[in-house]
Amino acid sequence: NAQMSAALKSEAAAAALKEVRNGMRLGIGSGSTVNELIKLLAKEVAAGLDIIGVPASEASAQLCNQLGVPLTTLDETPELDLCIDGADEIANELALIKGGGAALLREKIIATASARMVVIADRSKVVDTLGKFPLPIEVVQFGLGATRVKLEQHLKTNGLSGELVLRGGAEAPVVTDNGNFIIDAHLGTIPDPEAFAKGLNDIPGVVENGLFINLAMRAYVAGDDRVEIIER
Ligand code: A5P
Repeated sequence: NAQMSAALKSEAAAAALKEVRNGMRLGIGSGSTVNELIKLLAKEVAAGLDIIGVPASEASAQLCNQLGVPLTTLDETPELDLCIDGADEIANELALIKGGGAALLREKIIATASARMVVIADRSKVVDTLGKFPLPIEVVQFGLGATRVKLEQHLKTNGLSGELVLRGGAEAPVVTDNGNFIIDAHLGTIPDPEAFAKGLNDIPGVVENGLFINLAMRAYVAGDDRVEIIER
């Protein structure tokens, strides 16, 4: 149930929080697991921990402001020490699918700006092969139909198929913090994420995709009796 899963998320967050040191510049991801992190972080800040955060979404920024976690921007602080974020799926070599909360673009910018990225999640996020969770792809609003055709070609080239669904539907499409749309690619399986990611962002209408490869160094995965550490 939701309460139990919140407890697991909080345990994963607490484990990752042990990596946070005084003076750190911290990337703060987005999503329900990161919300648990922000709550714990706020307590540490109130107790004297000196950090500055860069949030990956307006929602994370709001919670940080509300709870008193000091924030900056990548313009003022372009290099970060550590980024802590959730994930929708975690596979071999810490290949991730992210973007279930539509924050993938800022999350990837922040992860890439960070010396180290760690993932926090409960056990349900760990999979053998990525792709059961639909892959979020952020696309510009202009030319959506044409971008969709190019995406279908990209699928075919990689021997994959599946529905490309505009998140929110044509009547009320979800608009990201960056003013773009999200297409969720229902692929079922992505056997070679690295190969699939290659060239995807070269489609002009594609802004970013939710495959995070070779970014995370460690994952804290909370199960029923302990927090497991997975390293790359
Ligand atoms: C946000 O766009 C996502 O990448 C989140 O990090 C991901 O969806 C995990 O969210 P939860 O912690 O809510 O599962």
